[in-house]
Amino acid sequence: MKRVAVIHGCNLNLLGRREPEIYGRATLEEINGQIATLAGELGLEVTFTQSNHEGEIIAAIQGCMGTADGIILNPAGFTTTSVGILDAIKAVGIPTVEVHLSNVHAREKFRRHSLLAPAAVGQICGFGADSYLLALRALAKIIS
Ligand code: DQA
Repeated sequence: MKRVAVIHGCNLNLLGRREPEIYGRATLEEINGQIATLAGELGLEVTFTQSNHEGEIIAAIQGCMGTADGIILNPAGFTTTSVGILDAIKAVGIPTVEVHLSNVHAREKFRRHSLLAPAAVGQICGFGADSYLLALRALAKIIS
């Protein structure tokens, strides 16, 4: 069974009450539940991590070596700043899909430039919780 690690960055623990007009009303637990259901349908094993600390995100990516075949990463506020996360994705060499709930290209200009995108196999944004589900379907094909 192929294994997918879903890694959520900073402030995503507050989903449901954090700027719901932008991020929706689903909690992180509910979104993880939707991902787990689809993973089951696709025959994938899935694990979840959330951290507000950049170093913990890097450690989670490194921890995927030998334990995950693909990564779904919402780097959140670290997207535009973290060379460390970029380097971690490159270092582990595991196919990684970058995900955002909101359409970062339709928001403030500073959100548009992802430092991590060059290391990702693709980026999905703007579909709310469905961004994760689309990413999982895409990743399932890549790692099959
Ligand atoms: C986000 C978009 C980022 O710009 C923002 O900093 C987040 C969430 C999203 O999922 O839409 O925290 O990654």
